[in-house]
Amino acid sequence: MFITNSTTVREGTTDLEVPDPSSYTFQGQYAPFRAPVFYNPKMEFSRDLAVLVLRAFAPTRDYPLMICDPLAGVGARGVRYAKEVPSISKVVMGDLNSEALPVIRRNVSLNGVEPLVEVFERDANLLLTEYAEPGRRFDFIDLDPFGPPSPFLDSAVRALKNRGILAMTATDTAPLCGVHTKACLRKYGAIPLHSDFCHEAGLRIMIAAAVREAIKYDLAAEVLLSYSVDHYFRSYLRLTLGAKRADASAAMLGYITSCSACGWRASYALSAALPSSCERCGAAVMRGGPMWLGPLSSGQLIGQLLLHDMANIKTSVRIMKLLTTLLSENGLPPSYYVIDSVCSRLKRDVPSLEATLGALRAKGYASSPTHFHPKAIKTNAPISEIEDVVSML
Ligand SMILES: C[S@@+](CC[C@H](N)C(=O)[O-])C[C@H]1O[C@@H](n2cnc3c(N)ncnc32)[C@H](O)[C@@H]1O
Ligand SMILES: [Zn+2]
Repeated sequence: MFITNSTTVREGTTDLEVPDPSSYTFQGQYAPFRAPVFYNPKMEFSRDLAVLVLRAFAPTRDYPLMICDPLAGVGARGVRYAKEVPSISKVVMGDLNSEALPVIRRNVSLNGVEPLVEVFERDANLLLTEYAEPGRRFDFIDLDPFGPPSPFLDSAVRALKNRGILAMTATDTAPLCGVHTKACLRKYGAIPLHSDFCHEAGLRIMIAAAVREAIKYDLAAEVLLSYSVDHYFRSYLRLTLGAKRADASAAMLGYITSCSACGWRASYALSAALPSSCERCGAAVMRGGPMWLGPLSSGQLIGQLLLHDMANIKTSVRIMKLLTTLLSENGLPPSYYVIDSVCSRLKRDVPSLEATLGALRAKGYASSPTHFHPKAIKTNAPISEIEDVVSML
């Protein structure tokens, strides 16, 4: 036994020795931060989806993948990738917490993946830099830190092969959603938007921070999959070498202005002059960014994932639901409208989401529910049309 109070859980087809939830509690609930080594069972969903993304990615390479999990905790991600993804040549795992190392090694041997895994007690930036030399780089790097991924982005970009995938999680949603503006400025170099659509704005700020690190090395970013669930944001970016392509990625960075008085929003390129007042009602507008203004996911990848064999994936029902919504909302313009807020401004009863979507579609607008909020829609209709529609229903 490597953790004083431990238990064994199964995720996918992987067995993991983890801290016993009943031994590390706060106010009667498991508190992962109280355990000597970090493991959060709620993130099984994120790990399941990552396994599926890797299984879809592996056949696109004609050689086995090199993977890095530099913030490994008990090793849940790295061990699962080694065990559950075919065609892996090596998984390099690291953690700064010396107590994590024997736990990771134990989980590696529990699953018989020793030949595929190397484990280091190392700062993540140092570990990634050791692999930044051409010939040693990774095909897939998973940044799953406490809080923001930003301290590790530069090293991760440098340690990634051409056309490799950078996956990142941010759990500091309060700064990204504009609850702590100064922290967002410090961590992401961006102004957050404390608005109705703050979750999408926050996710786009996180992606923009990674894109800015990539383009300085002439790496273009293609956003493959992004979502906001529970207490975190997650995104997968494919980075491809080429100055012209990187220029195109830079052109997808910009600002969003939002009027809380009337619900009007607009997107602007980084170089554009931003208005200080609303084009529609003249009230002062909030601005947020730099943000990624391009697509948040690839419809092709989502389609592939939806067809994937999800045997042994415990969270498959939730994954299917998320992917279906992501596919439906993909390609619609940035930001979403919470119908309750629109109706509250108009002092109207709130129509159903389905009726609102149906009426907008009947007027020729593309419209979809969004995974960001159960009572919100994404649409290419302007706010004036959304108001007309909810007023008629
Ligand atoms: C959120 S936990 C990782 C959870 C894990 N990826 C999983 O899915 O179960 C973050 C981990 O990063 C480690 N850590 C924090 N700062 C680090 C650094 N600078 N270098 C390496 N590891 C670090 C912590 O000890 C902790 O285990
Ligand atoms: Zn306005």
